[in-house]
Amino acid sequence: MLAGKRVLLIIGGGIAAYKCLDLIRRLKERGAAVTPVLTRAAQEFVTPLSVSALAGEKVYTDLFDLTGEAEMGHIQLSRVADLVLVAPATADLMAKMAGGHADDLASTLLMATDTPVMIAPAMNVRMWEHPATRRNLATLLGDGVRLVGPNAGDMACGEHGPGRMAEPLEIVAAVETALGDGLLRGKRVLVTSGPTHEPIDPVRYIANRSSGAQGTAIAAALRDLGAEVIFVTGPADVVPPQGVQVVAVETARQMLEAVEAALPADAGVFAAAVADWRVARETASKIKKKNGQLPVLEFAENPDILATVAQRAKGRPALVVGFAAETDDVVAHATAKRARKGCDWIVANDVRPETGIMGGSENAVVLITEDGAETWPRLSKPEVAARLAERIAGVLAGN
Ligand code: CTP
Repeated sequence: MLAGKRVLLIIGGGIAAYKCLDLIRRLKERGAAVTPVLTRAAQEFVTPLSVSALAGEKVYTDLFDLTGEAEMGHIQLSRVADLVLVAPATADLMAKMAGGHADDLASTLLMATDTPVMIAPAMNVRMWEHPATRRNLATLLGDGVRLVGPNAGDMACGEHGPGRMAEPLEIVAAVETALGDGLLRGKRVLVTSGPTHEPIDPVRYIANRSSGAQGTAIAAALRDLGAEVIFVTGPADVVPPQGVQVVAVETARQMLEAVEAALPADAGVFAAAVADWRVARETASKIKKKNGQLPVLEFAENPDILATVAQRAKGRPALVVGFAAETDDVVAHATAKRARKGCDWIVANDVRPETGIMGGSENAVVLITEDGAETWPRLSKPEVAARLAERIAGVLAGN
C-alpha cells in the first residue's frame, strides 16, 4: 500500500507515455498521491488534460509556470514527493539526467530534488543498447537512481528486444519496494569486495585487477532493499556506497578478521578477489637492488575467507554466496568450487581479458545453486547486483 505517499511523476516523450495514464490510476488505487509533470515532448503523446483528470491534480509543464507568486517554486515542487518517478525515461531524459542538465522543468526538478529517483526507461532496442545509453545508465545507477525495466518484447517501432517500458503494475511494485519497508528490513548482510594487497616490503605489494565495482553495487542493492550492510572492502578503485557500514582492510588476513568480527549475519556475499598467496616474509625495510642478484619471494597461502565462513559449525550465515573468477570451463570449475568451499551459491564469471569484465562496467554471470547453473544475460554490474539482491531477499524473506 502507498497510503500517504506522494509520487512526483515525470512523464517523458515516448509512445509508452500512454501507459502512464494507467500507471496513475494504479498508484492512486493504492493510496498514493501523484503530482504529474509533462515534458514538452510528452505532450505530443498524452494531453495535460487527461493526465490531470486521472491524477486529480494540476499538471506542471513549464519551468516558467512556477515563477508566479501563487505557484510553488521548482525547488519546492521537487521536494514535495517521497519518490520522483520518471516514466517513460527516454534516452534523451536519461542523458540529461546523467549529464546534470537543467534546461526545462523536468530536468530542473531532477537536478533540484533530494528525494529518491526511479526511472522506467522506454526506447528503441538500438537506443537502449547504444554505448551512450549504457554509459548514462551506469552513471545514473552509480548516483543511486533506481531502475525498473525495461522489458524485452515487440516494440511500437516494429523491432524486438529490450527497451519496452515496464508494465504499470511492475512499476507500482517497484515503487512499493522503494517506499515500503524493504524486503530485507531487519536483515544483516555481510559483503566482501575489492582486491587485497599483500605487502612485499613497505613500498611494494602483490595485488589483482579487481576494481570492487561488483561488490560495491551488491552492497548498494542490498541496502536499497532495507538490509543492514557490513561492507568489508580491500583497496578498491570505486568509492564505497553511502548508507552501509564500511570496514576498510588491506590484506586477506585483515579481511578474515573483519569478517569474523562482523558475524553473525543473515547472509554473506563474498565478492572480494582475495589474493590466494601472500609473501611469506614481508621485510621491514625496502628491498634494495643488488648487482645482478634477483630477489626470491617465497609465498605462503592466505586463509580462505569464504570457505572458513561457509564451513563454520556455529554462526554460519543462513545464505553464503561466493564468487568464482574463472578463465576456462566456467560452469564446471564453479560447480566444483561451490562444493569445495561449502557455500550455497556461486556467482561465476569469465574473467578472460577479452571479456572486459574484470575492471569493466558489465558482467556476464552464471549463478550456480543446488539446482544447477543459471546463465544470466550480460548486464551492467548494478543490474547484476539488483538481481542478486532480489534473489537473496527471496531466500531471507522466508526465514
Ligand atoms: N575467496 C576467499 N578467500 C580466499 C580466496 C577466495 O574468501 N583466500 C573467495 C572469493 O571472495 C570468492 C571465492 O572465494 O567468493 C572464489 O574465489 P576464486 O579466486 O575464484 O577462487 P579460488 O579460491 O582462488 O580458487 P582457484 O584458485 O581454484 O580459482
